[in-house]
Amino acid sequence: MKRKTKFVCTECGYESPKWMGKCPGCNSWNTLLEEEVYIGKNNRKGNSNIVKEKSVPTPISKVEMQDEPRTLTTYLEFNRVLGGGVVKGSLVLIGGDPGIGKSTLLLQISADISKSSKKVLYVSGEESARQIKLRADRLGINNDGLLVLAENDLEIVVNTIDNLQPDFVVIDSIQTIFLPHVTSAPGSVSQVRECTAEIMKVAKQLSIPVFIVGHVTKEGAIAGPRMLEHMVDTVLYFEGERHHTFRILRAVKNRFGSTNEIGIFEMKESGLAEVLNPSEIFLEERSEGTAGSVVVASMEGTRPVLVELQSLISPSCYGNPRRMTTGIDQNKVVLIMAVLEKRVGLLLQNQDAYVKIAGGVKLDEPAVDLAVAISIASSYKDKKISTTDVFIGEVGLTGEVRRVSRIDQRVTEAAKLGFKRAIVPKRNLSGWNIPNNIEVIGVNDLGEAIRIAFTETPF
Ligand code: TYD
Ligand code: MG
Repeated sequence: MKRKTKFVCTECGYESPKWMGKCPGCNSWNTLLEEEVYIGKNNRKGNSNIVKEKSVPTPISKVEMQDEPRTLTTYLEFNRVLGGGVVKGSLVLIGGDPGIGKSTLLLQISADISKSSKKVLYVSGEESARQIKLRADRLGINNDGLLVLAENDLEIVVNTIDNLQPDFVVIDSIQTIFLPHVTSAPGSVSQVRECTAEIMKVAKQLSIPVFIVGHVTKEGAIAGPRMLEHMVDTVLYFEGERHHTFRILRAVKNRFGSTNEIGIFEMKESGLAEVLNPSEIFLEERSEGTAGSVVVASMEGTRPVLVELQSLISPSCYGNPRRMTTGIDQNKVVLIMAVLEKRVGLLLQNQDAYVKIAGGVKLDEPAVDLAVAISIASSYKDKKISTTDVFIGEVGLTGEVRRVSRIDQRVTEAAKLGFKRAIVPKRNLSGWNIPNNIEVIGVNDLGEAIRIAFTETPF
């Protein structure tokens, strides 16, 4: 029989009979990969039974509301990232670098769920049952409700789920399992797509929450067609730097909750432990009173987090000064430096700038602008900022400090951690109760903020 192949785009799933350099579907370059066409009969039962009830248009006011039934784990961080617990029948994709702790996290969650007399099926296509047992021993897991299955064939997995009717299923990982009737190799676009569709069907039909692990590519996206992320209900990324013990679980898509939430964990000898008070951790190694170090109160989802921001400004020896950033957008820093130069009169054009967020967190909200500006000014002038000051505010192009959201939560968190002064936008001063153990100073523009920052605190 003649082998038939087709070319499939790994980004959008576009199919073409011949190879092309640029995908006509999504315009990305060099994403078309050759795959064998699967002939053979499609033994899927059809998608029609995913939606059981007959669909009729309903006025929105008449749509019945019911909360999705959720299972709560004892991991509060995990519950929060999911929007308040594991939703029945949801399909969740969790991606992350190799060795970051995806398997560890899901094994701990599985064990946790199985404790409340629930049946959990942990399917691993990567490790043998004995390897999983080794890990479980390390984590002190020994529950009878937790069943492990080392299997790559999705048909067997689906049969097992059908017979077992578990309350929670983990599939580690989508790239290692396959459907026998799809001829391409495990991990290929067709396999990943077909397997996910099959798992989706099982999850919806049996109302079982299913978590699937997805590998990530060099660029950090989940490997396989971009469509994979569209198919599932929730996409989580488990990230962190290999050299830090902190791990951040981030929702990038969530049909059942906000996508701004993060959960913070720490990888210890005995597995992942939750970090319930991240501000303390991020400020733990704070350099006491050195120039360039500033604390900002940023919002991570619904939770305020205090993070240290550091800058190093030093004369450049080349004509083209460097601007390097970690954990913050480089363009933001360039823009703030331009504002500092033009509106405050700091001569930064012949200075190299390095800006870094401590602890491996990423900050991308406008409210960190003021802290970035103060940090740069502090390093440039080589003047310390008081360690009990915290800065909150967005900076505009004319050097004005603009109002930010949730000022009360940010300031309250800072007061709780012992900060004595909060420098905030003036327009943010009214409409909320200022905690009495912190002095809140409103500023109109950058120049004013810098003057206040560089005068010693009265404490
Ligand atoms: P793992 O869950 O296998 O990562 P992934 O599934 O994302 O590839 O995590 C493996 C790493 O975690 C490994 O480098 C060792 C470390 N680890 C601990 O530090 N403590 C532990 O208790 C466990 C189980 C793993
Ligand atoms: Mg793993």
